[in-house]
Amino acid sequence: MRLTQLTSHALRHLRQHGLRATVNYAVTRLASARRDRLDARFDKKFGVCTSGDVELHQLGATGVVERDGYFYQPSPVAKVRAILRQVVLDLEPSTLVDFGSGKGRVLLLASEYPFRQVIGVEFSKELHDIAERNIAAYDPPRRQCDSVQSICADARDFAIPDGPIALYFYTPFTGAVMDHVLKNIVASLKQTPRPAVIAYYGADLDVVSKIEQLGWMKRRLKLPFDRTRPRTDQKMGLVFRYPIRERSPDRQSSVATRTGTLTDTVDTVQGQSGVTDPR
Ligand SMILES: C[S@@+](CC[C@H](N)C(=O)[O-])C[C@H]1O[C@@H](n2cnc3c(N)ncnc32)[C@H](O)[C@@H]1O
Repeated sequence: MRLTQLTSHALRHLRQHGLRATVNYAVTRLASARRDRLDARFDKKFGVCTSGDVELHQLGATGVVERDGYFYQPSPVAKVRAILRQVVLDLEPSTLVDFGSGKGRVLLLASEYPFRQVIGVEFSKELHDIAERNIAAYDPPRRQCDSVQSICADARDFAIPDGPIALYFYTPFTGAVMDHVLKNIVASLKQTPRPAVIAYYGADLDVVSKIEQLGWMKRRLKLPFDRTRPRTDQKMGLVFRYPIRERSPDRQSSVATRTGTLTDTVDTVQGQSGVTDPR
C-alpha cells in the first residue's frame, strides 16, 4: 500500500472507529505484516501462497458464519511444527482435521508427519481453491502423508471422520458455531469411542473455556517464543485429550484409560490472563 493510500485508509478508520480502535488496528496490522514477511520465506521456498490476512466480509461470509467467524490468518510455521510434533507423539496414526483451514498452510505442514490422512474444512470457496492449488504444488523433502485434502464447507456441516482423530483449531470461530462443532465431535465420540485430541492455538479465552467444559484432559504445549508479539500477547498452545475409557480384559467391572494417565496430563493453565489479542 502506498503512503497516500495508507493515510486515507487510516483517516477513514479513525472517522469510523475512533482513535483507540485505530491505534489497535494499526498495531495488529503492522505485527501481522511482520509475521507475513517472515512466513513468506516458507511460501517462496515451496512455491505456495499461504500468507496474508483476509477479512471475513471480503470472503462473502454472512449471517452466523460472519458473526462468529474469525478472519483468515495463517498459523505461524514454527508454531504449527511444534504443535504437530507434540500431537503426533500423542496419537498416531490418526486423521488430522484443521477446522477453518483457509489457504491450507496447516494441511501442507501436516503432510510432513505420519498422519493417516489430513483434511481441512474451509467455508470460503476462494480460500479453498487457493488451498487446493497449494496442496498440488507442495513437495516437501520429508513427506509422510499422501492423503491431504481441503473440503469447502461450513464446519458445522462437516462429518467427523472415523478412527483416531486430531482436531486442530486456530481460533476459526467462536459462539454458536464453536458450540455446534464441539457438539458434533462429542456426538461422534459418544457413538464410536476412540482416541481423540483437540489441539488449540490462539488466545480466545471464550473458545478455550468452551473446550475446557468438555472435561477432557488438558496439557499446555511448549511453543517457540513469537518475536512478532509482546510477551503479554503470546498465543497459547493447548492439547485436550478425550478420556476414552474401556473395560479392562481381566477385571470386567473396572475401567482403564487408553490415552495415558490422568495425573500426567491434567494442567492448570485455565483462565490465563494478560493476553490482549482476543484470538
Ligand atoms: C484464523 S484462520 C485459521 C487458518 C488456518 N487454520 C491456519 O491455522 O493457518 C480461521 C479460518 O476459519 C475460517 N472459518 C470461519 N468460520 C468458518 C466456518 N463456519 N466454517 C469453516 N471455516 C470457517 C475462516 O475463513 C478462516 O480461513
